[in-house]
Amino acid sequence: MTTALVTGGAGFIGSNLIEELVKITDKVMVVDDLSMGLKSNLPVSDKIIFYEKSITDYSFMKRLLLDERPDYVYLLAAVASVADSIDRPLETHEINQNANLFILDTIRVNKLPVKKILFSSSAAVYGDDPTLPKVETTMVRPLTPYAIDKFATERFVIDYGNLYGLNTVCVRFFNVYGPRQNPKSPYSGVLSLISNAIINDKQFTLFGDGSQTRDFVFVGDVVQALLLLMKTPSASHDVYNVATGTASSLADIIQVFEKLTHKKIALKLQPPRSGDIKDSLADISKLSKLGYQPQFDVEHGVAVYLESLK
Ligand code: UD1
Repeated sequence: MTTALVTGGAGFIGSNLIEELVKITDKVMVVDDLSMGLKSNLPVSDKIIFYEKSITDYSFMKRLLLDERPDYVYLLAAVASVADSIDRPLETHEINQNANLFILDTIRVNKLPVKKILFSSSAAVYGDDPTLPKVETTMVRPLTPYAIDKFATERFVIDYGNLYGLNTVCVRFFNVYGPRQNPKSPYSGVLSLISNAIINDKQFTLFGDGSQTRDFVFVGDVVQALLLLMKTPSASHDVYNVATGTASSLADIIQVFEKLTHKKIALKLQPPRSGDIKDSLADISKLSKLGYQPQFDVEHGVAVYLESLK
């Protein structure tokens, strides 16, 4: 019997992961406080055990880990918005770093037989250094509480491997999009905001001239990467970019949406958002060497995303 624990499993990326995990795992435990996620994001399956709990509920987390002794642990729960982390640095630190460290240390101290632990970090750790593409060895420049905690927790996760022999791996997500990404928050990823605008015939606020570029990665490809890293023994005590290796400008993306929906997006033009980086692009050769091949270009991914919103 194989079991997995997914923190943040009711969120956007977590719920997409669980859709695949239930096919290959006998039991999937989900811990989510529903601060961002929705219970309805989870697929219907009697393999899923859902706990509406925060990962900062330490006595609960300890009991769960000791009682259930999961084989695989996916650490996806987080204050996921950079802007939110700037408003709430202490709470962000408690959730994004301390709670994850507590899980690692509970596994270490109790010598739990966890096969592998995966921590989700972010391209935000690279900060505003303009060198492209970003390689995992590129200097990091974390500029916000979100990025600082993501980077520091990466280091804890990797060094719990080096120091205590835990089998761990980290990922740096670039701009992930796809079904169940919540467009409600003003801090949502830009593709969910464009989808929301075009479907509801609302204006989309474009910051800048649309020439800024991002490495937009479809959530299905992200799930492929997570499962691959979990099952690849050589991917251990290390960090991997998860992206496509292709940059798209916002102007390109807007065209893709307009072509797919046969609608014109009403644009409200604003100056570039302060603190934004102009361009972002990942080097994915490290992950590709393990067999990762993104399956979705933006046109395909956006089409699937739009279909999911119908
Ligand atoms: C992401 C984070 C951001 C963080 C940055 C650090 C999210 C949603 N955003 O930003 O908080 O500072 O990583 O690496 O987590 N845009 C518009 N109109 C909108 C929203 C966005 O034109 O309504 C533009 C932005 O100005 C940006 C691009 O779209 O140029 C992408 O924005 P976003 O989806 O927020 O991603 P990042 O800029 O990568």
